[in-house]
Amino acid sequence: MALGVRKLSFALGAEITGLDLRRPMDAAAAAEVRRIWLDNLVVVIRDQDITPQQQVAFGRHFGPLDDHKSLPFYRLEGVPEIFLITNKLVNGKPSETKDTGRLWHSDHSFTTHPTMASALYCKEIPEVGGNTLFTNMYSAYDSLSDGLKKLLDGLEAVHDIRDYAPFRSRNAEQRAEMHRINPAVAQPVVRVHGETGRKALYVSEALTFRFVGMTEEESAGLLKFLWRRSVQPEFTYRHEWRPGDLLMWDNRCAMHMAPADYAPGQPRLMHRITILGTPCGRLYSEQSTVRAAA
Ligand code: OGA
Ligand code: MN
Repeated sequence: MALGVRKLSFALGAEITGLDLRRPMDAAAAAEVRRIWLDNLVVVIRDQDITPQQQVAFGRHFGPLDDHKSLPFYRLEGVPEIFLITNKLVNGKPSETKDTGRLWHSDHSFTTHPTMASALYCKEIPEVGGNTLFTNMYSAYDSLSDGLKKLLDGLEAVHDIRDYAPFRSRNAEQRAEMHRINPAVAQPVVRVHGETGRKALYVSEALTFRFVGMTEEESAGLLKFLWRRSVQPEFTYRHEWRPGDLLMWDNRCAMHMAPADYAPGQPRLMHRITILGTPCGRLYSEQSTVRAAA
């Protein structure tokens, strides 16, 4: 099957044409999507008119789907594989997912089974904005000097959900529960991609504040440099959503963030599926301290 491919930016991202996901994808088409996705880190299939079940069927071509126990918010009624990201009221209350992804991150890096891929299907989007930004972490790693690469290759960093700034405003009970479900983990600072064999930086401003074996103060300078380097404009792609876009990214080699770049009153609704990954990192048992609230 010949699919069309159009690159969306120099750094990462490609649009795939020639698919209608109302019809089941065959194995050959799925293999081609996977190849395009591995080459481009982010793929977008536009103008799709699919049901939640059809989105789930698409995701299953790439691996088993997460049931979202590590972030136990909204699942679509009857389709627990679909997680709702929305600023709309849910059961008359402000949505728990309205500020999802405000800082750069890679999904579920705070677990020992981080998500391989996430795919959002855009249902509603504000008149302007509501964009999502992506960055290529292979490029970030490749851009470093040999000396720094060598230093980083042997390091691990702590990823702890309690350090995630937007969660600090949640109540103590909710935070304790989040930590119980997701104890701190140590992840390699340089992650080797299981399919491409390429090295990618794997630290984020959302979740990484210290290297294993170092204090937060000692780690801060180098981590800040890495966060900044990771998101240099030339490594990024900014997606302007249209309803009907299905976009899938690779969490092993890309980070993403969703700025609050839209009028708060305007509805934004995404249906997300999360494709499970292979184990990465280890539980971090050393006594870990919570960062003082800023
Ligand atoms: C996510 C996420 C960003 C967005 O789904 O993991 O960070 O644009 N979402 O909604
Ligand atoms: Mn995310």
